[in-house]
Amino acid sequence: MILGIESSCDDSSVALLDLNLNLVYHKKISQELEHSKYGGVVPELAARLHTAALPNLIKEIKPYFKDIKAIAITNQPGLSVSLVGGVSVAKALSIGLNLPLIEVNHLVGHIYSLFLNSDESLPLGVLLVSGGHTMILYVDENGDITTLASTSDDSFGESFDKVAKMMGLGYPGGAIIESLSQKSSSDRYKFTIPLKGDKRLEYSFSGLKNQVRIEIEKSIANGSQSSDFADIAAGFQRAACEHIIDKLKKICKEKRFKSLGVVGGASANKYLRAKLLEICDKFDMNLLVAPLEFCSDNAAMIARAGIAKYQKSKFINPKELKISPRSSLGSIYL
Ligand code: KG4
Ligand code: ZN
Repeated sequence: MILGIESSCDDSSVALLDLNLNLVYHKKISQELEHSKYGGVVPELAARLHTAALPNLIKEIKPYFKDIKAIAITNQPGLSVSLVGGVSVAKALSIGLNLPLIEVNHLVGHIYSLFLNSDESLPLGVLLVSGGHTMILYVDENGDITTLASTSDDSFGESFDKVAKMMGLGYPGGAIIESLSQKSSSDRYKFTIPLKGDKRLEYSFSGLKNQVRIEIEKSIANGSQSSDFADIAAGFQRAACEHIIDKLKKICKEKRFKSLGVVGGASANKYLRAKLLEICDKFDMNLLVAPLEFCSDNAAMIARAGIAKYQKSKFINPKELKISPRSSLGSIYL
């Protein structure tokens, strides 16, 4: 089996996936509660919590040490101080147990969340929506990745986090804003869709966030009725999702993907999923989504990406493994 370790942001996670794709062990210790009072991830706190959590998870899989064939570790992109926690543990295990080490790009890990139970099916268009990224990618039949669109400021998930923070509702904001939106039956907040009519194939959420901030402030000044917040949340979610769909439609029209994969923590959003189903219907695309449990950061997807590289003997010397806060996407097998 392949051991996967993930610590790129605020989740410490360890998984064991055997070469037949049976998930033998998977656990994730989330730091959401600890960060929620600050309205976002505090890097120094994240680092300390990874250092406490990872050794405990590794202790739990000790009985399987003899069955592990290689260790797959997220080394980019992410928070440096978080990445270093998992990478140190992976290097120590690689040297101590004399096991090959496999570096995994976190974004490639998200793509592999689509193939936890199956072989890769390529080529594939991918919408990646997470806390750190908003991208449309194309993965060709050889696994080479091209970036077709990305965001020039905030990411989709991050904009939900910031709206929740402005409403004083905690972190992470995605699920909070989604469930608050479900309480609204009004479409009275009609925010401007970012870059609508603009030819650029890119995303931007900072202007929308600003429009939302103004309405939140007005609502607070008027006595902050809680129904206002639900309606604002619903208006924001509609606009953010429409922005995603608007640019995606343009790309799909041109590229004609056979399949569209949707990955990342924010791909759990049901309103977005419903809109994606509509666009897949329109362009006759097959929609691939990860099981809800594996949309957000997890080590199972890292182990799965590790298996693909293990089969191609793509190993790295522990002395040469470095972390990088930014990502260089090339191929899912690199
Ligand atoms: O992939 P992920 O776990 O971490 C990163 O790699 O960033 O994604 C976490 C992000 C957070 O910003 C969170 O608010 C967002 O995904 N998210 C959502 C939903 N569930 C999680 N955003 C919108 N709607 C959701 N239901
Ligand atoms: Zn992620």
